[in-house]
Amino acid sequence: MQRRDVLKAFVGGVATVGVLGLSNAKLRAASADEAANVNNSNESKERAMKYDNDYFYKNGVFQQDKAFEAYYEMFDRMNYSLSDSLRTNPNYWVSDFGLGDFAHVGMGGIFFFNDKEYRYFGHDIYLLPGQMIPEHRHLAAEDLPPKHESWQVRNGSIFNFSEGGDPNDPQALALIPKSQLEAKAVNCFKFRYMQVGEQDRLGVLGAPHFMIGGSEGAIVTEYACYHSMDGLKFTNKDAHP
Ligand SMILES: [Fe+2]
Repeated sequence: MQRRDVLKAFVGGVATVGVLGLSNAKLRAASADEAANVNNSNESKERAMKYDNDYFYKNGVFQQDKAFEAYYEMFDRMNYSLSDSLRTNPNYWVSDFGLGDFAHVGMGGIFFFNDKEYRYFGHDIYLLPGQMIPEHRHLAAEDLPPKHESWQVRNGSIFNFSEGGDPNDPQALALIPKSQLEAKAVNCFKFRYMQVGEQDRLGVLGAPHFMIGGSEGAIVTEYACYHSMDGLKFTNKDAHP
């Protein structure tokens, strides 16, 4: 890993020796200030985020145009080109999942394909820095088995969470938005830090999972079986598509 990326991870408040595979020597190379950020990760994460909820809500109503704008700005930072035809793609969507915390919990994406007849799905996921997709599962529905998914990071980085882990893990607790912890809407505390080109897959059909954008946000391509909205179940009882 590039030193620059190591430091970004620290500034994002998200680095651990195990996850990032850092040697002790590299850890010692980080300045005292950067090391302090590891122990002050929530504050660091806030500093890395450009937007707060005041930007995304007006009189308590989610402003989708502001969310689209935030992702466009992220694409510009990443030098990611979203053609005009994609910008106007009717399947390009953003959502706060009804949770009112888009600065920390929400996503954008484009369903390029969702073919029930041939049972395949192609989707790009957009996440702002530190933004979490609410924890969810995919159950059998519409006479089809539970959806299986794989993910590939195309830009930025993510923290990919799966079921298990230590609910008291300080690194996990620093990453997961407060709103979801307070709602007790998280069962996944095991996570993997993933950078551009890295890929992973759902370990167990029907298991809960979620991901969080890294310090620069993320663009993630998802390869999966047909996505049934009927089979999508959020852990947070207040969340909805
Ligand atoms: Fe999923």
